[in-house]
Formats: sequence, C-alpha cells, structure tokens
Amino acid sequence: MVTTCNLQNGKSEKVNSTEFSLHQRFDFGANWLSFLNTLNEERLSEAVVSLQELLGVENLEGKSFLDIGSGSGLSSLAARRLGASVYSFDYDPKSVGCTQEVKNRYYPDDTDWYVEQGSVLDRDYLASLGSFDVVYSWGVLHHTGDMLEGLHNVTIALSDQGLLCVAIYNDQEITSGFWKRIKKMYCSSRVGKFLVSSLFLPLFVVQGIVIGCVKYRNPVGHFIHYKKKRGMSVYHDWIDWLGGYPFEVAKPEEIIRFYTTQGCVLENLITTNRLGCNQFVFRKVV
Ligand SMILES: C[S@@+](CC[C@H](N)C(=O)[O-])C[C@H]1O[C@@H](n2cnc3c(N)ncnc32)[C@H](O)[C@@H]1O
Repeated sequence: MVTTCNLQNGKSEKVNSTEFSLHQRFDFGANWLSFLNTLNEERLSEAVVSLQELLGVENLEGKSFLDIGSGSGLSSLAARRLGASVYSFDYDPKSVGCTQEVKNRYYPDDTDWYVEQGSVLDRDYLASLGSFDVVYSWGVLHHTGDMLEGLHNVTIALSDQGLLCVAIYNDQEITSGFWKRIKKMYCSSRVGKFLVSSLFLPLFVVQGIVIGCVKYRNPVGHFIHYKKKRGMSVYHDWIDWLGGYPFEVAKPEEIIRFYTTQGCVLENLITTNRLGCNQFVFRKVV
C-alpha cells in the first residue's frame, strides 16, 4: 500500500499500491534526456532569472542549495551559476544521468556540485544530507506517489532561516481528476501513450497558436516565448503534463497551512488559477 495526500483534513488516505506501481510511473528521465538536446545559453539565462525572481535574490554566493528531484538539472545549473554549492538528487536514474550530463557540460570536475540518486520519500536519506540554506523542489512532490510524506521530508534538510521552495500542481477539483485519469492511461501501455498523445498534442498545438495570436499577435509567439518559463521547452512540458504520473494536487491555502504549522513563513507566492503549479517560497523561522 502507498498513501496519497489529503491535505484538507491533514490525513493520509490509503490507496491501492498498484496505482503507483513502477511500470505505471512516467519515464521522467527519458523526457529530460530529450530536453537536453535543446539546452543552450539562452535557456540557462532564463532559468537563472526565474530562480532569482522566485527566491528574491541577486545571487546565491556562499549558500548551499539542495535540488530535490533535479530532473534535467537545469535548476541546479542555474543555482550553481548564481554561486551556490549545489547538491542534486532524483529518484529516476535517467534524470540523475541528465543532471550529471549537465554538470559535466558546464562544470566538469567541480567539487561544489554533487549529483546522486535518492528519494525524497526516504526520511533517513534526507537526514543524512545535513542542512541547506535553500531547499528547492519544483514540480516533484506531487509526482512521488506520497505527496504528504514528501512535503514533510523536504523540511528535514532545511537549515534555520533557510528558504524552502516548492511548486505543487494546483487543485482544480473535477478537472484535476480528469487529467489524473488521462495521465494514468498514458502510463498504462504503449497504446495508452499513443492514444493520449495523438488526441492531445494536436489540441495543444492549436491552443498554442490561438494564445500566440491573442497575446503576441504572432501564431508562433507562444512557442517562442515559452522558454521564459524557467528555460523550459513547450514540447517537453506537454509530454511531462500528459504523462506525469503519479499525480496529486493541492490548493494554495493547504500548502500554506501545512508549512505554517511546521514553523515556516511565506516569503513569496505565485499562484495560478489554471492547471499548472502554484509556487511557494517559505522561510524556516523556528
Ligand atoms: C516534473 S519533473 C521536475 C524536475 C525539476 N525539478 C524541474 O523543475 O524541472 C519531476 C521530477 O521528480 C522526480 N521524482 C519523482 N519522484 C521522486 C522521489 N521520490 N524523489 C526524488 N525525485 C523524484 C522525477 O524523477 C522527475 O525527474
């Protein structure tokens, strides 16, 4: 059995373990490996600016930065560019390979950036890492299969007065339930993946063109400007969205209440009223 989070009443609801069985997990690492082909200085600059804005810092000189669920490794790279010493880990060995490849490309032989495999659901592992000035886990905890445990465990590695940054999918109630079923279907088999991709990718293209026309008066404007979102790629984010399973969601007030009771105060909040992530920066005060 594994647990899934019900933050509203602060309890964990037991669900059938087969729901999150290994073969039903999305292959995040494969998507990140493909993303690496698009990584360039422009994306890195966007990632650096996004990190500065989110954390409210000019640089991270002299700070330690723990990247939990590092994925492509781009946020770790941005933090290293800002001067932090970085510790990156991810559960998926291919994501770990990606982060390692990014390190090898930009900071070979650097002793201030360490990359390894690990799980945020492993309390002992988190405790073994020591404490960090910045604990960063963007778009990860809702994909672990036990978001409540993940939300708790990230604080284990947070130093006093440290910054905690998490991004969690917004709870859209019925709509989120619909997407959970789609993601489950995507991860269920090759046929599921094919059906979901063939149905939704063309819709996303059309939606992107409409947004481009309305927002930028340019049909490809949305695709061109997308990299401003943390240096990400629109295509890889579509795949991540369609396949990203396990999948849990939370309302902003639930996350704020959760960390407030853990001795943290909110320093920055970027919410969405749509399907993306709400982004939170807390400071540990006790
Ligand atoms: C949507 S990606 C986000 C990657 C990166 N943080 C970013 O912002 O681009 C989610 C990542 O969480 C990782 N992940 C899932 N479960 C995890 C766990 N239990 N511990 C650590 N990482 C995990 C996945 O392997 C994947 O690389």
